[in-house]
Amino acid sequence: MVNGIMTKIYVWSLFTRLFHLLLVVAVGVVFVIVEFESLLSYHAIVGYTVGLLFVFRIIWGFMDVRYSKFKDFNFNLKDLIEYMFNIFGDKKEYLGHNPASSWAVIAMMILGLASVVSGVIVYGTQEGMGLLSFLNISLFKDMDLFEDIHELFANAFMAVIFMHIAGVVLDKVLHKSDAVGSMIDGYKKGDKKSLELTLLQKIFGLLWIALPVFFLLYLLSNPSNILIADNNRAIDYKVEHRVFYDECISCHTLYPPHLLPKKSWITMMDNLQNHFGDDASLDAKDIKSIKEYLVKNSSENSTKESAFKILKSIDANVTLAITETRYWKRRHKDIDKSIFEAKKIGNISNCKACHKNIEQGLLNDKDIKIPQG
Ligand code: HEC
Ligand code: HEC
Repeated sequence: MVNGIMTKIYVWSLFTRLFHLLLVVAVGVVFVIVEFESLLSYHAIVGYTVGLLFVFRIIWGFMDVRYSKFKDFNFNLKDLIEYMFNIFGDKKEYLGHNPASSWAVIAMMILGLASVVSGVIVYGTQEGMGLLSFLNISLFKDMDLFEDIHELFANAFMAVIFMHIAGVVLDKVLHKSDAVGSMIDGYKKGDKKSLELTLLQKIFGLLWIALPVFFLLYLLSNPSNILIADNNRAIDYKVEHRVFYDECISCHTLYPPHLLPKKSWITMMDNLQNHFGDDASLDAKDIKSIKEYLVKNSSENSTKESAFKILKSIDANVTLAITETRYWKRRHKDIDKSIFEAKKIGNISNCKACHKNIEQGLLNDKDIKIPQG
């Protein structure tokens, strides 16, 4: 821009700026709420929305929109190196995306979409929920692998976001760049042509912003939608096995059989007269029948996350208590002892105080709720 006359140039359309704003908010929300187990469905809902925003942005990149189209990105490696080396010195100004942000934007699109797709797979294989819930049956043994992959993409996505922010801040501090302002008002200083949108592009831009917002609202108001639906079946133990239900719910929570392995159930059922200090004896016929039912539905025969992980977390010893398994301890280690002892809960074995439908065999993250007071 040595010879040119510097004027205000319109580079980012209203749609690009709104997209950027929505993306910042949505990605922020996704990363914050993943820390709360009970908000997992919302993590998924906002995640899908991020995916949709990116899909529109990619189509936008192939439309003939000045400064935003991929053709106007600068992927030249020599320019990138020169740009990075001159970051503290006298660096060249770019009107659209500079070489660093060109690469960052592409990386964010790829990693963002990869996070969404892998997230849908984890949601399906691990939780039995959402679009790919059917994968729980066939691929549950790989749930940890998919989770690792999802985290890898998400962390890489996060890393690029931080680099992008660092770059923008540095640019602002060192060069008084107008990049931040341009994402708000759309203008940069330069000597090139302003952006102009065709009618078709304006219509597309409107859809780009409106559809993800409606999509988000739709998912929020329709929890049984196929994209997020919980496909774990509630079990009516009373109907499935009346004796098990009647005998084993009389003193405590009805523990779903998938929470312990075969060995534990067999040992427990063979020693009911001395059951955690209580006498829970039954006649031989009922013992046999309950034992068979428990073994048939033990951890080994379940594809549920809790079953799979409990099984993985126990060693050679026979564990009779679910609360003695490493998985249980790990998942509850952050809960203060005083909470378990609070009046409404009583003791740690009172699972249903926090897992409201555990007695229907359901232990979904979204249903976990620690009672207050
Ligand atoms: C007479 C009362 C009584 C009956 C009947 C009874 N239990 Fe228990 N059970 C207990 C007590 C007491 C504990 C110790 C934990 C607690 O305080 O809740 C316990 C603990 C357990 C635990 C371990 C819970 C944990 O902390 O991880 C399992 C599993 C269990 N029972 C299964 C069964 C099954 C299966 C039946 C039905 C065959 C059954 N119980 C019937 C009294 C009973
Ligand atoms: C004081 C409330 C409370 C009680 C009582 C409680 N839990 Fe939990 N449980 C939680 C919370 C909170 C989490 C989620 C922890 C986390 O963030 O990972 C959890 C997680 C779990 C998970 C993992 C969920 C999954 O996705 O598979 C299992 C399984 C589980 N609990 C089983 C039990 C069983 C069985 C009992 C009774 C023996 C029990 N819990 C008692 C609060 C409780």
